[in-house]
Amino acid sequence: MYMEILDFDIVVLGSGIAGMTSAIHAELAAGEKLRIALVSKVHAMRSHSVSAEGGISGVLYPTENKDSVLLHGYDTVKGSDYLADQDAVEMLAENAPKEIKFFEHLGVPWNREENGRINERPFGGMSVPRTAFAADKTGFFMMRALYDEITLHKGVEIFHEYIVTALLMDRGRFVGLHAIGLKSGRQVLFRAKSCVIATGGFARIYGFATTSYSSTGDGIALAYRAGLPLKDMEFVQFHPTGLIPSGILITEAARGEGAYLRNSKGERFMERYAKSKMELAPRDIVARAIISEIEAGRGLRNKESGLEYVHLDLTHLDSRKIDEKLPMVRDITTKMLHLDPSKDLIPIRPASHFTMGGIHTNINGEVMAGPSGKTADGIWAVGECACVSVHGANRLGSNSLSQCAVWGRIVGTAIAKHAKGSWKITTEAARELSAEEENRITDLTERKGSEDPYEIMKEMQATLDKNLYVYKTVAGMKRAIKEMRKLRSRYADIYIKDKGSVYNTNLRDAIEIGNMLELAGVVAECAAARKESRGSHYVLEYPERNDKKWMKHTIAQRSIRGTRISYIPVRINKWRPEKRVY
Ligand code: FUM
Repeated sequence: MYMEILDFDIVVLGSGIAGMTSAIHAELAAGEKLRIALVSKVHAMRSHSVSAEGGISGVLYPTENKDSVLLHGYDTVKGSDYLADQDAVEMLAENAPKEIKFFEHLGVPWNREENGRINERPFGGMSVPRTAFAADKTGFFMMRALYDEITLHKGVEIFHEYIVTALLMDRGRFVGLHAIGLKSGRQVLFRAKSCVIATGGFARIYGFATTSYSSTGDGIALAYRAGLPLKDMEFVQFHPTGLIPSGILITEAARGEGAYLRNSKGERFMERYAKSKMELAPRDIVARAIISEIEAGRGLRNKESGLEYVHLDLTHLDSRKIDEKLPMVRDITTKMLHLDPSKDLIPIRPASHFTMGGIHTNINGEVMAGPSGKTADGIWAVGECACVSVHGANRLGSNSLSQCAVWGRIVGTAIAKHAKGSWKITTEAARELSAEEENRITDLTERKGSEDPYEIMKEMQATLDKNLYVYKTVAGMKRAIKEMRKLRSRYADIYIKDKGSVYNTNLRDAIEIGNMLELAGVVAECAAARKESRGSHYVLEYPERNDKKWMKHTIAQRSIRGTRISYIPVRINKWRPEKRVY
C-alpha cells in the first residue's frame, strides 16, 4: 500500500499529560503557529494518564503546611534511596507549585478546604501533606483540562490511533517516525525537525500490574532499538495496593486519608517495618512489608487466583469522607468485588505500577546520544518514559504528575526554540529508512510463523511476576535473563492471524509484545548486574545498599552482542546519603 508522508515542525509521540503539556507549551512559547503532530496509539483521552488517581505533589502553602521546596527535595531524594540526581529534584520541587496553578487555570477542579485553599493530602514518604488532588481521579481531570485546551491550539493536529513502529535516525539525528494508522492500516511517515517521546512506562511487562494494557514502553523500546541509551532500567516500582485478583489500583490516597494495612491476624503490621510513617512509608518499604508478612504466614489466600494478600482497612473512616475524597475506591471495590469499603476489608498485594528507568536524558529532557557527553540531535523525552532522573531507585507517590507537568513545560519551550531555528526537515534519509521499515512491517504481517505472540507475552509476564518481583534472588534473575532470551528468539517466529488492514489489533498487539519483550530483557540484565539492594531493587543475597560501589546510574545500550551495560555518577549537590529510616 502507498506510504503517506506528513511533514511537521515537531512531532510529539504520546498523548498523556507529559505529551499534551509539551505540545501546548511548545505553541505557547513559539508565539506563533507551529505545525505540531501529536501521535498516539490510542484515542488521546484513553492515554494511561487518565488512570492517575491520588494527586500531584507541590509545595503550595509553605507557612500553613510547615513545608518548603527544600523539604520536598529532601523527601524525594531520601525516597529515591539517594539515586536521584539532586539538581533535577530541586528543579522538580521548585517548579511543581507553578504547574499545579497552571492546571488550576486550565480548569482542574482541585478539592478545596473551607477557606478556599487547594486541599493537600499526605502521601507516602512525604514529611507533610503536599499532594493536591481532584478526589481520586486527578489524572482524569488533568487530562480533560488538557484535551479541552489542546483543541484550542490550531497548530496541533492529533493523530489518534497511530502506532509508531520505528524512530528514524540518520547519523545521530532524528529524521522521522514510521507509523501505522490503525483505522486504515495505512503506513505513514511523520517527518519533523524534532521529536518528543512521551509514551509512558512499561509496567505491563508484568502480569499483575495496576496500569492499563497500553503501558508497554513503546517509546523506550523504539529509542533502545535506535541505539539510544536507557538509564536505571532495573528499578520497577510495585504499588503496595493492587486489588486482588485483577491488580487494579487502589490509590495510596486511601492510606493518605487514614486507611490501615492489616495482616490475617488483624494486626497493623507496618509498626514492624516503619514505626513512624506506618502505612505512609515509601512504596518500596510498604511493598516489602506486605510480602514479608505473607511469607511469614500472616497473609490470606484467594482461592480462584491462588494469590496471597493482606487487607486494606477503610472501615474506621467516615463514609462521607470516602464519598468525597475516594469515590473511585468505593466504585472499584463495589463493582469488582461487591465490597463496601465502609464495612468490608479490601484484599490487596503489591502490583507493578511505575518504571523509574527509561530513556537517558539530561536535566533539560534532551535525549543523550551515549552514557555521557553529547545529546542526540532533535530528540527529547518527557514523563515516565524519560529517566531525568528525579525518582532514582524509588519514586514517591504523586511526584510523577509533577514530573510530567514540570518537564512538559521545559521540553515544550525548548522544542519551540529548536523548531524556530535553522533546522530543516531531512527528506531523503527519512524516506529511505521508512521504506525499509514498511517492508519489515509487511513481512511481519504476511509471514507464516509458528509462534503465538500472546503465548509469549503470558510466559514473559509469568516469569517476571515470579523472578523479578519485590524480593529478587540471584538465581531468579539469571532464570529471567535466560527465559527472556528464549522468548525473544521464539518471537522472531511469530505469526499474525489477522491479515486484514482495518483495525488490525492483532498486529498492534504483536508490536507491543515485541517492545515489552525487548525491555523485559534489559530490566533482567540490569537487575542482575546491580549487586546491592536500593529502593525498589532488593536482592536477598545483597540485602544492603552499597554506596561505595553502587552509587551510580546504570546505562544500557543495544549492541550486536546484546545489552551493553555501563555506569555514570549520580549528581549529589545538596543531600549526603544517610540510612533510610521511616
Ligand atoms: O496511588 C496512587 O494514587 C498513585 C499515585 C502515583 O503513582 O503517583
